Amino acid sequence: MVNIGVLISGNGTNLQAIIDGIKKGRINGSIKLVISNRKDAYGLVRCQKENIESMYINPKEYDDLAYNRRLMEEFKKRDIDLIVLAGYMRVLSKEFVENYENRIINIHPSLIPSFSGKGYYGERVHKAVLDYGVKYTGATVHFVDEGTDTGPIILQEVVPVYDEDTVETLSQRVLEVEHRILVEAVSLYCQNKLMVDGRKVKIVKE
Ligand code: GRF
Repeated sequence: MVNIGVLISGNGTNLQAIIDGIKKGRINGSIKLVISNRKDAYGLVRCQKENIESMYINPKEYDDLAYNRRLMEEFKKRDIDLIVLAGYMRVLSKEFVENYENRIINIHPSLIPSFSGKGYYGERVHKAVLDYGVKYTGATVHFVDEGTDTGPIILQEVVPVYDEDTVETLSQRVLEVEHRILVEAVSLYCQNKLMVDGRKVKIVKE
């Protein structure tokens, strides 16, 4: 059984997808702690409803390095094996990433490397997709390295963009795919079926 820690900043629908994936027996893991950098994150309410330990840690009370060390402290106390960034809107420190090398998974609402990196987060991604006029976008699950959205890719799935799409309709369609591939990626990790080879991630077949 893998001990999972989750970092969130908002609504927490990706967190909920992992919670439901565990309940359905798709993920051989257990969420031991959820931390939010936002006090009003609805994801914290989801944790209360599910009796999952959660906490809000205010970034304004620390400098960036100390904030990341505080996060690590809480995760280490609970022997966390895997950390999932589920709509977490802060960049982790180099020290944090080094401590959890190839043990941090992030979900991003585009087909990386398109519409990713600094400044590309949340609705901004979908607005850029619509403004550019691409016909397909998608979602990406990847391991986190020291860059922003640059770590080795685990899974991606394509989503069509329709002429009549708005940021709302497109982000909703992408979110459904996010939930599916995030659960699949966490499930594969917990089965020890992900092999990182430089920039590539290979899925170990039976
Ligand atoms: C998702 O689209 C995620 O890819 C992005 O932020 C959004 C968060 O959604 N980073 P939620 O909080 O998981 O509902």
